[in-house]
Amino acid sequence: MLSLVIPVFNEKDNIGELIRRVEESLQDYSYEIIFVDDSDDDTPAIISQFARKDQRIKLIHRENKTGLSSAVICGFEYAEGDILAVMDGDLQHPPEMLSKMMKEIGQGADLVVPSRFIPGGSDGGLNWFRKLVSATARYIGKILIKSLRRASDHTGGMFMLRREVIKGKQLNPVGWKILMEILVMGNYQTLVEIPYAFSSRNLGQSKLNLKVQLQYLWHIFTLLKRSESDRRFYVFCLVGGSGVIVDMLIFALLSYRFAGMSVNARAVISALIAMASNYTLNNLFTWKEIAAVKFDYKVFLINVRRFSRYLIVSSFGIFIKSITLFLLYYFLHIDKYWGNFAGIVCASFSNYFLSKFWVWKE
Ligand code: GDD
Ligand code: MN
Repeated sequence: MLSLVIPVFNEKDNIGELIRRVEESLQDYSYEIIFVDDSDDDTPAIISQFARKDQRIKLIHRENKTGLSSAVICGFEYAEGDILAVMDGDLQHPPEMLSKMMKEIGQGADLVVPSRFIPGGSDGGLNWFRKLVSATARYIGKILIKSLRRASDHTGGMFMLRREVIKGKQLNPVGWKILMEILVMGNYQTLVEIPYAFSSRNLGQSKLNLKVQLQYLWHIFTLLKRSESDRRFYVFCLVGGSGVIVDMLIFALLSYRFAGMSVNARAVISALIAMASNYTLNNLFTWKEIAAVKFDYKVFLINVRRFSRYLIVSSFGIFIKSITLFLLYYFLHIDKYWGNFAGIVCASFSNYFLSKFWVWKE
């Protein structure tokens, strides 16, 4: 059975048509519609009228409005179906999509996400300013979090999934985008996207405001901390940054204490110490789950092998950085500082992936 969760806040003029179109779309399926309502107008009274006539329609009315995601989670807790879906209550998400989504689930999809951004889809209902804000927000999310790249439209607000996908998962009710939680924390293999046209709102008005947009950024940040693979990369970069500081300090110390030593020797020694410190920090933080930090002979050998590999990887990183700088500076005539910076970025990626798959072998 499908449990369709519809969060509503002051949508009294949309309820009737919404229910009619959902019923038509889902006529071949067994389902329940759960309205999670935070309204302070007649919306709950209108839903109740429909609920009296049709037992599949259910109303949860909450007195304290605590946000869209919390409304969806509340609906999920109440839901009885083995399939869950979420859509807006203002008809911007066409109810006709529901039957198409059910078909995909029937064919084995774990998660179905209608998309405005694949061929056949459109976000025609938004003005250019909201399009721009929405695109910026989407790209920020995709750049920072890997799992969000799996769906072209992670902010659309409509989706369907098998209940197993979120079984045992703690979903955090931050902001509006509960789908982001599911994409990052959920347990799913097959994700299917179907194009759809986001409609313009006919009645009532949007409740999306600046606060919601800031919550989105905060949400991305909390997801970064909770998503294992993304967290690793950022910790790795932080460790890399700390290495630069260690290197500079040691270099200064050597210059101060051993002025007779050649500059090259000072550079090599400070680099080696920085690499040792990076290696240790990566063991302690970045790969703490698989790190070897016991005092015994076998563990010692593992660390010797890993550290040797880490030195090779880091040296290769220096090579990548030099090549990048060389190409950008001599061929594209890009400023040497920008070239160097681009080199550092490229080297960070190569260092990270080689460390991940070769040194620490995840
Ligand atoms: N229960 C509850 N509580 N429902 C809410 C609340 C709330 O605090 N705030 C909004 N809703 C309901 C609205 O009644 C509507 O059914 C749905 O959530 C979406 O709210 P809108 O105000 O219509 O948002 P929007 O159209 O600007 O944004 C929608 O489209 C965007 C894509 O452009 C949402 O689906 C966004 O998530 C989506 O990014
Ligand atoms: Mn809307």
